[in-house]
Amino acid sequence: MKDALKEFIKPGSKEEALVNKIDFSRLPQHVAVIMDGNGRWAKKRNKPRVEGHKAGSKAVQEVVETCSRMGIKYLTLYAFSKENWKRPKKEVRTLWELLFNYLRKESNVLMENKFRLNVIGDIEQIPKKARKELTKVIHQTREYDRFTINLALNYSGRSEIVDAVKKIMDEERIHKNNVDEDLFSRYLYTSGIPDPDLLIRTSGELRISNFLLWQIAYSEIWVTPVFWPDFSREHMLEAIVDYQERERRFGDIKPKQ
Ligand code: FPP
Repeated sequence: MKDALKEFIKPGSKEEALVNKIDFSRLPQHVAVIMDGNGRWAKKRNKPRVEGHKAGSKAVQEVVETCSRMGIKYLTLYAFSKENWKRPKKEVRTLWELLFNYLRKESNVLMENKFRLNVIGDIEQIPKKARKELTKVIHQTREYDRFTINLALNYSGRSEIVDAVKKIMDEERIHKNNVDEDLFSRYLYTSGIPDPDLLIRTSGELRISNFLLWQIAYSEIWVTPVFWPDFSREHMLEAIVDYQERERRFGDIKPKQ
């Protein structure tokens, strides 16, 4: 995977120096990203907020390419929260259009590279045009496991937990004494996907914003002041280098190997 990434990188660049610091045998398996700051990026340039989202869509492509070439297995992107419906109608419409365009443009790339697309969140309420395209690409890529793009859409961490409780209560064969953390995890939207090792948030806010509340219990958190549309390959590499310098103890006193 290192070679697939190296092809991309200019000799002598800062990116190359970062790649050389990465231990490819200790990559995070799962990286989750709170893509924040599209609105502020646009405001800074006297542009409408939707322009920030359009630029944010391009950053999505670059990050997908970087993570897949690096050898990361799962990338979860927080693209639309349940709370985002409160935004102006035009902005909400643009966000779903951008998702539709992204899927139309990228579905061939996903299939050629054997990338899987998965969605976490309440898919039923997603506008029909985007939902149909999503369902199609999810179906087309369901057997692939080389790299999974996990889109959080119409997502809320609290709703996910409540939904899991409801599903467990519906299963008559489960006795409460048999409910433990492993069982509970299997009823979350992320069932079968390991918890994120690394959580990245852009635009400097120190908040979780109802994202993967259960799954980030022991994730390493990396926050950058950079607005999402400016988030580049170099920032992703920086985050990985920083992650590898951390000591993960999971409550123990010695690092876990
Ligand atoms: C947060 O910025 C960003 C979002 C709510 C949407 C993220 C969407 C994209 C990056 C584009 C489409 C996605 C895909 C997967 C193609 P904000 O608007 O809250 O920024 P602000 O805090 O500066 O206002």
